[in-house]
Amino acid sequence: MQDIQQHRQQFLGLKDKFYFNFGGQGILPQSALQKIIDSYEHIDKVGPFGLKMNSWIEENISTAKKSIASEIGVTSESITLTENVSVSCNIPLWGIEWQKEDEILLTDAEHYGIIAIVKEISRRFGVKIVTCPIIDTLNHDNPVEVIKNHLTPHTRLVVISHILWNTGQVLPLKEIVSVCHNYTYSQQQIQVLVDGAQSVGSLPLNLIESEVDFYGCTGHKWLCGAAGVGFLYVRQDLITSVSPTFIGWRGLNYSKTDLPFADDSRRYEVATSAYPLFTALKEAIAVHQQWGTIEQRYHRICELSNYLWTQLTKIEGIECLKHTAPESGLVSFYLKNGKDANKMVKILEEKGFYLRTLVNPYCLRACIHYLTLETEIEALIKVIKDEN
Ligand SMILES: Cc1ncc(COP(=O)(O)O)c(C=O)c1O
Repeated sequence: MQDIQQHRQQFLGLKDKFYFNFGGQGILPQSALQKIIDSYEHIDKVGPFGLKMNSWIEENISTAKKSIASEIGVTSESITLTENVSVSCNIPLWGIEWQKEDEILLTDAEHYGIIAIVKEISRRFGVKIVTCPIIDTLNHDNPVEVIKNHLTPHTRLVVISHILWNTGQVLPLKEIVSVCHNYTYSQQQIQVLVDGAQSVGSLPLNLIESEVDFYGCTGHKWLCGAAGVGFLYVRQDLITSVSPTFIGWRGLNYSKTDLPFADDSRRYEVATSAYPLFTALKEAIAVHQQWGTIEQRYHRICELSNYLWTQLTKIEGIECLKHTAPESGLVSFYLKNGKDANKMVKILEEKGFYLRTLVNPYCLRACIHYLTLETEIEALIKVIKDEN
């Protein structure tokens, strides 16, 4: 593994700031930015619409999927390229043929965007929404039991995040999927859709082993790709059973004269995209993999977030949401002595420290990436102590 200081030189955006917002958006490595520029130049040079360009686009799509597949340990045929995690989650959510008596089980830690999709599905199809209290399981209680206790004979889909964006809790994916798939009272197998916004690029996923049905991701957060590229994993045996909702020429099977939908995950892709952005995600993944495997990166994330958490717990007037060492790069904490979290974020940003607040629970959140330095954590601790 390369020395982290040296490795970080590739991320120019990290030079002049203390960046703790990877869960919002990552920072592009310089070589990924260069790939975007080179690709646009190449397109102009070769001719944007021609046989050579069509081959370049096909090759670019195929290698982007291979790169994503290598990072998350699945086949490239099970990857659909999208714009972001919200689009990725929309695909199975609208693709399921909902019946009036169906229920969707959500946790109370899901992102507003995902809740909004589920609410609209409920309004249009009369599907019932059930929300289970997962946030409270951070320090006690078993999240698997909570989910199990909220399943009913009508539950059709369970929507969870793998890492909760507010508390940083890692949900045990394999156990949750197993409970849902083996729920015997349901007329049909309960499927699981995962919002992987905070997990992809920060946590080893083991998707095949987990048997998860649908897993939505984005490339612009922990993977440090360009904003505008996300992806969806659909378990291979489910692909032909979930219909596409947004439809276009990229989703068709050209080997058949009646042009049906492709029978792999291309069926959910629509039409023209900003193809040069795919090269940036591919390059960013290669840069991370040059430093270490996802297991090695996750190990470093846990060591560093543990360090931040330990230091925060020593500051009077700060309370970490999690009472034991973090299992992810998200470290959330309350200000207890009357200071307002939004004001604190503003003060911190003026000093070059990028954090964010969360609404529920109202707190601050620091993201620890494997690119984070111990010295950055020490500097953050010092400024929080001074300002608190
Ligand atoms: C858990 C979670 N879900 C969804 C989103 C939305 O992400 P995107 O803009 O990639 O759709 C975010 C972004 O912060 C998130 O943290």
